Amino acid sequence: MIMEIADAKKNLQRKGFLDIAVDPTLDLFAVIEDLKKKKNAIVLAHYYQEPDIQDIADYIGDSLGLSQQAAKTDADIIVFAGVHFMAETAKILSPQKKVLLPDLKAGCSLADSAPPELFKKFRDKYPDHIVISYINCSAGIKALSDIICTSSNAEKIIESVPKDQPIIFAPDRNLGAYLIKKTGRDMVLWNGACMVHEIFSLEKITKLKVRHPEAKIIAHPECEPAVLALADYIGSTTALLKYSKQDSAKEFIVVTETGILHQMEKENPDKTFIPAPPNNACACNDCPHMKLNTLEKLYLCMEYEQPEITMDESLRLAALKPIERMLEISAKAGL
Ligand code: 13P
Ligand code: SF4
Repeated sequence: MIMEIADAKKNLQRKGFLDIAVDPTLDLFAVIEDLKKKKNAIVLAHYYQEPDIQDIADYIGDSLGLSQQAAKTDADIIVFAGVHFMAETAKILSPQKKVLLPDLKAGCSLADSAPPELFKKFRDKYPDHIVISYINCSAGIKALSDIICTSSNAEKIIESVPKDQPIIFAPDRNLGAYLIKKTGRDMVLWNGACMVHEIFSLEKITKLKVRHPEAKIIAHPECEPAVLALADYIGSTTALLKYSKQDSAKEFIVVTETGILHQMEKENPDKTFIPAPPNNACACNDCPHMKLNTLEKLYLCMEYEQPEITMDESLRLAALKPIERMLEISAKAGL
């Protein structure tokens, strides 16, 4: 066993997680609860995580809620059940805490669509513009930005900028196009997108609606404009969940990653939630990055306190500023 741990730690960077066999008879829920208490650790999970992880989490939320929790927790260890940019944001906000991510390879296609060196060249072409970046980006992009936003607060963030101030919005072109429509601001967009939200099939959603005419279509703003045009309601994961509770409809076609259905079904046992289908036969409405985390990897990372998020201090400080601006504007707006 000792050798197994030493080997697993040696292979950590290459594999992204501690590859150690976990005894299948272990009650992982009980062991993780014990580890939380013993180590004063908090588990933060995004809605796109698998149901077991959501059920063991101390807090489940959207990107804004998760960063607010990461900023205020008094836990010694933050275990981030989400993707890399989320855990990195937690580390930027809480540098004195140990931040663990069950699988370091849990990345994000949207964050990857904006390499900092290319983005810097792009930004430099618009010296009069300020940069608002969606939180789904690397610390390198955050450091090149003036304000960060999430899908919950993006409109308020844009509205906080004087009307005559030109804006670059990065990295999501779909969210950016949606915000241009909502706010009437003519922003310059970086050409990035999320692989999960881009793959929904307009044709299949239209057919579903024909079969379920009473169903409300609810969609995340990372979807393409043609899909958003079909939606009865558009919002962040938290906003979609809230809408599904408050609206009187009994059926919903949910156009975002399937993980959110777990909370929707738990909180609305009398309603039906239909995941919107992708445009091929794969399970591409599951985010392959989010779903790299498993309960076993969560347990191992808490037991051995690896993989840990680490960061260069000057990069952290540069990335912190626009995140703090986001949190200040959000607090003022009561978000
Ligand atoms: P929100 O949960 O903030 O709506 O973001 C969705 C998402 O794509 C996270 O990766
Ligand atoms: Fe990134 Fe899209 Fe996965 Fe969210 S769902 S983590 S935006 S790839």
